[in-house]
Order: sequence, then C-alpha cells, then structure tokens
Amino acid sequence: MIFLLVGSGGREHALAWKLAQSPLTERLVIAPGNPGMAPLGDLRDIKATDVEGLVALAREIQADLVVVGPEAALEAGLADRLAQYDIPCFGASKRAARLETSKAFTKQFCDRHEIPTAGYGVYETAAEARQALSVFKPPYVIKADGLAAGKGVVISPDARDAGHEIDAMLGGRFGQAGARVVIEEFMEGEEASLFALSDGTRSVLFGGAQDHKRAFDGDHGPNTGGMGTYSPAPVFTPELVEAAEARIIRPTIAGMAAEGTPYRGVLYAGLMATDQGPRLVEFNARFGDPECQVLMMRLKSDLAPYLLACAQGDLGRLPPPEFHADTVICVVMAAKGYPDSPLSGSIIRGAEQDFGPDVQVFHAGTARDKGGRLTAAGGRVLNVCARGADVTQARERAYGAIRKIDWPGGFYRSDIGWRALERDETA
Ligand code: AMP
Ligand code: GLY
Repeated sequence: MIFLLVGSGGREHALAWKLAQSPLTERLVIAPGNPGMAPLGDLRDIKATDVEGLVALAREIQADLVVVGPEAALEAGLADRLAQYDIPCFGASKRAARLETSKAFTKQFCDRHEIPTAGYGVYETAAEARQALSVFKPPYVIKADGLAAGKGVVISPDARDAGHEIDAMLGGRFGQAGARVVIEEFMEGEEASLFALSDGTRSVLFGGAQDHKRAFDGDHGPNTGGMGTYSPAPVFTPELVEAAEARIIRPTIAGMAAEGTPYRGVLYAGLMATDQGPRLVEFNARFGDPECQVLMMRLKSDLAPYLLACAQGDLGRLPPPEFHADTVICVVMAAKGYPDSPLSGSIIRGAEQDFGPDVQVFHAGTARDKGGRLTAAGGRVLNVCARGADVTQARERAYGAIRKIDWPGGFYRSDIGWRALERDETA
C-alpha cells in the first residue's frame, strides 16, 4: 500500500518509523518530513497546511491512505478535501476536529452528552467574563476558545490577575482564537492522557501516557509543548481506564455520530484523575507529541491496519491492539532559549549513531547544513526514547544515550518520569 504521512515533527517521525515496519507498506511518502525521516520514505516539501498541495500529492502518488499528524492540517480541512476525492484519511474532518479547535464547542458538547468535565462559562465580552469570576473560586482557569499554539490556557491565582488575562485574550492576544473565552472550575488531581482510535462509530483504546509540560526540572519554568513523556501511566488503574472509556470516550464517539459529525482518527483525552473519577480536561484531535513517540515504541501490533480501519469505518474487524508491557520514556532535547526564542543552527553530533535495540532517537526540529551536518532548526529538536522493564531502566537507557549526543546548543530535563518513579518507590 501507498501511504502519505503529513507532518514534520517527532510525532510524525515515530509514526513513519512504525509504518515503515508494516508488511502492508509498499511506499511511504512524507510531507514535509524532516531529515530523520529521510531513510524511511520519500520526503516531499509540502507544508501540512497546504491542503491543495497535499491533495494533489495524494492523487499523484495514488495514496491508499493519508495519515495526518498535526491538528493545523485538520483545521485547514485536509480530511474534508480528501473525502471529495474518495481518498481514505486517518484524521478528523474540520467539523469533528472542533473537539480540539473549539473549547466552547467541546464544553457544550460535554453538557449535551453528560460527559464529566469542569463546570464552565463562555463569554464574548470582558465585562461579562469579569463579572462571571464571582461564580468561580480561585485559582481561575481562563482559556481562549480556539487554537493558540498551546498558550491559550492560563491559571490565575486571583481575580485581579484573571481580569488582566481576560482583557488580554478578548483584546486580541490570540487573534480570532481569543474571540471568546471559557472560564472553568479548577479541578484537583493528577493529569494523564488516554488515547483511543475511532472509525466514526466504534472506538478502541490505544494506550495512555503522562507528560511534563514545564521547561525545567522540578516542573519549573514556562509551559512548553511537552519536555518528555512515559507510558504506561501508573495513574491509569484498570478501574480509571474503564470509567474513562465508559463515561468519556464512548459517549463522545456516539455523540459525534449522533450529531452528524462522526469522529474518525485518534481521540486524545487529557484527563484529571479526581476523587469523583476521571474528568475531561481537554480533547485533542491528533496524537500527542511526544506522547505518540512512546506509544509507537510500545505498540506490538502493526499500526497500518488500525489507521486504515479508522478511515474505512471497519475497526470492528480488528482485534484490540497489543502493547508491550515495557515502560518507554521519551526525553525531549530542545534548543537553548525554547520555548520563547530557541536558537537555530547549532550543530548536533552523535545523534545518528546506533544506540541499540532499546533506544530510538526521533527527530523533531532538525535540518542539515550544506556540509550534511545535523543542526537545530526548531524548539524541540530531538526525542530520545528508550524502553526498559520499568521506569528506572528506561530512564537509565534514555539518559545514557543522551550522554553520547554532543550538542552544546541544547538542553533537556533530567527528571522525566519522576512522578512514576516516586510511585514505584512508595509502592
Ligand atoms: P488544556 O490546553 O485545556 O489542556 O489546558 C492546559 C493545562 O491547564 C492542562 O494540561 C491542565 O494542567 C491545566 N488545566 C486546564 N483546565 C483545567 C481545569 N479545569 N482544572 C485544572 N487544571 C486545568
Ligand atoms: N504533549 C502535549 C500535546 O501534544 O498536546
């Protein structure tokens, strides 16, 4: 089969790595991809949001399936345009992707389908939103409605600060994405991410992970797209997963189908494990990055049939996917200055050596200079992933590989997996 994979980050490198191992794969074309993916497929320099360019490429190569990595392509309507040409697509339609692209839509959807989540209000003017603060208790959770590159959520300690955030968001800090704000009840608990695949009517669980959003050790510093992950997430007891599937995942897939916007692709549920069971923090319409990297390393089953079945509506014919019992962790190496102003162009040595069967280094923001040397070309640059019998062993292997990478222009957190490790020690 001929696959077209869309995207250029570590998430897509991991998907490419797994798809390349499938006996179904005759050809893998990646747009635009990155240097790490070059040995796995043909790279074509078309951006993930260039919908017409991607549709033309899918037709040219006669793709049997288009696999969409980033949400920006979904929001741009890639799945909808491919559907007009009957090209199967793993990825949600623009309307179904509202589960990620509009927080107001998702909160109202949760109301309609009794999906447990934080209490909320949606506001279009600063006066209304400021007034509404009195019905919430601090800390205040203030969110821009639309996609804001992971920066659209602020937790404010007091009403004064919350008021400033409301003014900034409704005043245009995020452009159209901030035309409405959502204020939410603050939920206490431990956060983790659960993944499910769906073909529009059925769903199947696809693993869980926990990540580290802050830039520096000890969960300090600014929020990032994610500095590291591990899977499985020990917070996910079988009871919690069962409850999340029954109360959140299944009602969402059924609700989207009933509303005429069936959800196809991967549903990424950010959950809070609370005293009252799992509650939804947010949905994403794509794999997490770097959650995907650890899931792909743990996935024992062939990925391709699952992605195809989601696109074709016949997930029911496949057995549940199998995962290795190992723990996998991913440590993100970022360019110094990330997330605010990452420095580009520094040279990376030693990242492309063979680290053995338990370690994979996925590329995110990398490039090659004229001499063919690997350089940094983004914020998050390398994803060093390792498997082990437990978190301790997986960590030792990942950090062992990192020590062999010579990159003075980069930094990473040295405590990925600390929460899981603490649990192991107190268990
Ligand atoms: P989101 O982009 O909606 O996932 O929000 C970003 C982060 O803000 C989440 O990962 C949580 O850590 C935190 N957060 C969002 N909503 C809430 C809430 N209602 N209660 C507590 N924390 C929240
Ligand atoms: N790592 C978080 C995300 O992909 O949204």
